[in-house]
Amino acid sequence: MLYDEVMQSVGYLRTQTERKPAIAITLGSGLGDLVDEMEDTCVIPYTDIPHFPHSHLEGHSGRLVFGRLSGTEIVVMQGRFHYYEGFGMQKITFPIYVLKFLGVRTLIVTNACGAVNPSFQPGDLLLLTDYINLLGLNPLIGENDERLGPRFPDMTEPFSLRLQALAQAAAKESGLTLKPGVYAYFNGPCFETAAEIRAYAVLGADAVGMSTVPETIVANYLGMEVLGLACATNMATGLAVNKHSHEEVLRIANESSERLCCLIKHLVSELA
Ligand code: HPA
Repeated sequence: MLYDEVMQSVGYLRTQTERKPAIAITLGSGLGDLVDEMEDTCVIPYTDIPHFPHSHLEGHSGRLVFGRLSGTEIVVMQGRFHYYEGFGMQKITFPIYVLKFLGVRTLIVTNACGAVNPSFQPGDLLLLTDYINLLGLNPLIGENDERLGPRFPDMTEPFSLRLQALAQAAAKESGLTLKPGVYAYFNGPCFETAAEIRAYAVLGADAVGMSTVPETIVANYLGMEVLGLACATNMATGLAVNKHSHEEVLRIANESSERLCCLIKHLVSELA
């Protein structure tokens, strides 16, 4: 049962660390630099944690890093799980349940995405204001456990308006621009076709990516406040002449990582 597995993971982590961070950050592809800025870290590989999935994807290390950022206790998920890797929706989101029962109240999710909005450019930092789930799948499908959350969670504010305002303030202070946009969640692993991207634009998408939404749904279900930050690593299919490659996504994400880290550092000290 999910609840029991979550408790077993939490029990294991409690044997490794007594830290109780209120803020968790999920790092997207190529955005791992944040961990280098942390102090007094305690690193726990996913492979050591009971029931945790393990990822073998390039750019996703697969470890939980506890430590301080700007003097604030945080925990970072360095490496996340994707539907295209073959994991079920519940497995992808399992770590979010664990974070909740470790005491996390605020989840900052980051990702690398494609820009659907033609006014965006590769390297832009985006503030997610809402999402469109294109999969017709949901991590909460199945019998509901009331100890975890309600059967029919509200999604009026999947990304907290309070956190969005704080993020914009932190961006201003750091001299960075954060462009607001709606994130469309596509399963991948192939990049979208040009016709798909035109369709998503009509639906109201500003960006497209292969992660973030399952975690956001579960975090909301669990009563956590969520902030979504993204790096537009490329123009989505059909908006630029060049073809896509994962290497290019990682390259632009790596280049943007420093700005994103700077923003998150400011934000975390505001949240503390
Ligand atoms: N599409 C989907 N996911 C992505 C993209 C994209 O263009 N870029 C980075 N992640």
